[in-house]
Amino acid sequence: MVGCSDYPYLRLYSSLNPATPIVHFTEMYLASTYANSPTYRSQSITPRSLGPRTVIQFAATSPETFLEAALQAQKNGFGGVDLNLGCPQSRAREGGYGSYMAESWDLCLAVLSLAVDCDDLRIPVCVKIRIQEPKDGRTGGERTIQFVGLISDLGVDMITIHGRVRGTDDDRRFGAADLGVVKRCVEEVQRRGGKTKVISNGNVRGVGDVGRNLEYTGADGIMVGEELLRKPDLFGRYAQGLGEGGEEERKVKIVKAYLEMLEGLEGGEGMRLEDGSKSGKNGGMIRGVVDEGEEEFERMSVWWTNLEVVKSHFRWILADRGDRGSKRNFAKTKKVLDVIKGVKKRFGLA
Ligand SMILES: Cc1cc2nc3c(=O)[nH]c(=O)nc-3n(C[C@H](O)[C@H](O)[C@H](O)COP(=O)(O)O)c2cc1C
Repeated sequence: MVGCSDYPYLRLYSSLNPATPIVHFTEMYLASTYANSPTYRSQSITPRSLGPRTVIQFAATSPETFLEAALQAQKNGFGGVDLNLGCPQSRAREGGYGSYMAESWDLCLAVLSLAVDCDDLRIPVCVKIRIQEPKDGRTGGERTIQFVGLISDLGVDMITIHGRVRGTDDDRRFGAADLGVVKRCVEEVQRRGGKTKVISNGNVRGVGDVGRNLEYTGADGIMVGEELLRKPDLFGRYAQGLGEGGEEERKVKIVKAYLEMLEGLEGGEGMRLEDGSKSGKNGGMIRGVVDEGEEEFERMSVWWTNLEVVKSHFRWILADRGDRGSKRNFAKTKKVLDVIKGVKKRFGLA
């Protein structure tokens, strides 16, 4: 998730969910820049100790560019590549990628099939979609099932379905996800004898929803966004048969684990706690520390320990059930170490 899937936080998921088969997804990267710029690649996330169950996600609008980016990702140790056909944001509209690219199924299928058919690309090819727009008198649900069938016929390895429509600029998360459509997509892939794994996404707002969602949809796996930001121990609790509860105690445990992760990283794994960064255009971020002679890239991803990212994680963790955390938290704090100090004080930690 843009601004939230940094390397330390992905590691936190692994540490809080031991023995749970998690696949980590990076946030969305621009395939064209990733394919063409060695500097950009060298500054981008790599799986590091997360290992090969890490999938890098790309926004791509041409088959050749997606394939080139995918081959580079394979070289960098990723275990899979994912094409984003769900991003609803205005920059995706301007760039013609994400959910806007899904307005041309032919292009989407061409991008996926070149990658699937390339012998040199040995890692899984995945795609993420959302409920399609209604068209030609057919409902969004019917069109989504048809689209999933076509994708599965190509031999794509994994498809994640976010069960919501794109929504409007003012309301991206309108209503509940339609898991009935996800269920019918699972059945469609089975009916066609496809090997594509279907991952269900949407409506998880507590540990119990993980099992309910999987049971109802029959999906091969589940993707969780916001609730994992609030409760990064979610999958571990599900795997151990635990429910919700012990809110405060749980929060302290999560805060401690994240603090340990941050403090352990400084110096280790060559990662510094970085204070500066500024928002770039289109929701990207520009690295605050740019060495002399280094190109200055607009970054969609900030995968290292950066002030803005650390603040955002603590806001989510400290948020009450269902909300997204107050922006007032740490609003004036300018250093990562001061955020850490503030959190420790709040929880009475040494
Ligand atoms: C801040 C934020 C950033 C996101 N960034 C991405 C992204 O880069 N790629 C992606 O596929 N989905 C992204 N999403 C969508 C989520 O992955 C997910 O599909 C959506 O939030 C619905 O799942 P949930 O109800 O479990 O949160 C983002 C969502 C949020 C709230």
